[in-house]
Amino acid sequence: MTSRSLVSMNDYTKEEILDVLKRAEEFEKNPNCNLLEGKVVASLFFEPSTRTRLSFETAINRMGGRIVGFTDAASSSVTKGESLNDTIKMVSNYCDLVVMRHPLEGAARHASEVSDVPIINAGDGANQHPTQTMLDLYSIMKTQGTLENLNIFMVGDLKYGRTVHSLLMAMSHFNPTFHFIAPKELEIPKAYKMFMEERNIKYYEHTEFGDIIEKADILYMTRVQRERFADPLEYEKVKNVYILKNSMLDNTKDNLRILHPLPRVNEIAMDVDSNPKAYYFQQALNGVYARQAIMAKALNL
Ligand code: CP
Repeated sequence: MTSRSLVSMNDYTKEEILDVLKRAEEFEKNPNCNLLEGKVVASLFFEPSTRTRLSFETAINRMGGRIVGFTDAASSSVTKGESLNDTIKMVSNYCDLVVMRHPLEGAARHASEVSDVPIINAGDGANQHPTQTMLDLYSIMKTQGTLENLNIFMVGDLKYGRTVHSLLMAMSHFNPTFHFIAPKELEIPKAYKMFMEERNIKYYEHTEFGDIIEKADILYMTRVQRERFADPLEYEKVKNVYILKNSMLDNTKDNLRILHPLPRVNEIAMDVDSNPKAYYFQQALNGVYARQAIMAKALNL
């Protein structure tokens, strides 16, 4: 595997996606190794995170690497006015790899252009979250036995949900049929519709959330992203628009699995958690193995 940044799902070919998933499977069997021994990974979180940061840190620890960084830009010299450009130039002097989450769309791409070491995008605003997508793909592969020809239903905040945007791009290699369930205000952005149309990918848009999920192989629930709304009243209008309840799963397919990038707010009722079709906590665990594989690829290990 060649060494390089992962900023958008466009940075991986289909073959590279499949290679990384195969590698994730190996890491799941043997997570502890010394591949990162002698390496320093900088973990720069300009936005809050639980799963992404901690699963990267777990992955780095399991691979024998060291971590430097910050969990809050308020504790960095950004508060003194230092630019992203200068921050990345400095940090890339100190380390072998940078994992970065930032609120601005395009921040990770910019960082990759000025950094001397590979950048892994851990989420840039409402744009992309490719490492989440790799763990989502790994979860889909594990639960469905394939990535090909699946009915993928995505529900909730399809406008601001960066995990939706990255997953849609990655799944485009595997002949999916998408069903997008969102209120008009949070529908999938036009750029992604054009992306699918150019590739002849079948997609359907719905505003009602009900019996149609009976056809789903994957039900990908998302949180309404409060932090991306300029007007809090607009958030209030849509925040509880779709809530998945256990009773809604009675007539769904046996192979259906419910994914959610988490954190959850209200969009999945607690009674779903004990349903064998609920997979979101295992999905989050898969993040450790997927991120081990992504770092190994970024550093050509
Ligand atoms: N899925 C995800 O990105 O979760 P965190 O915001 O907790 O990292």
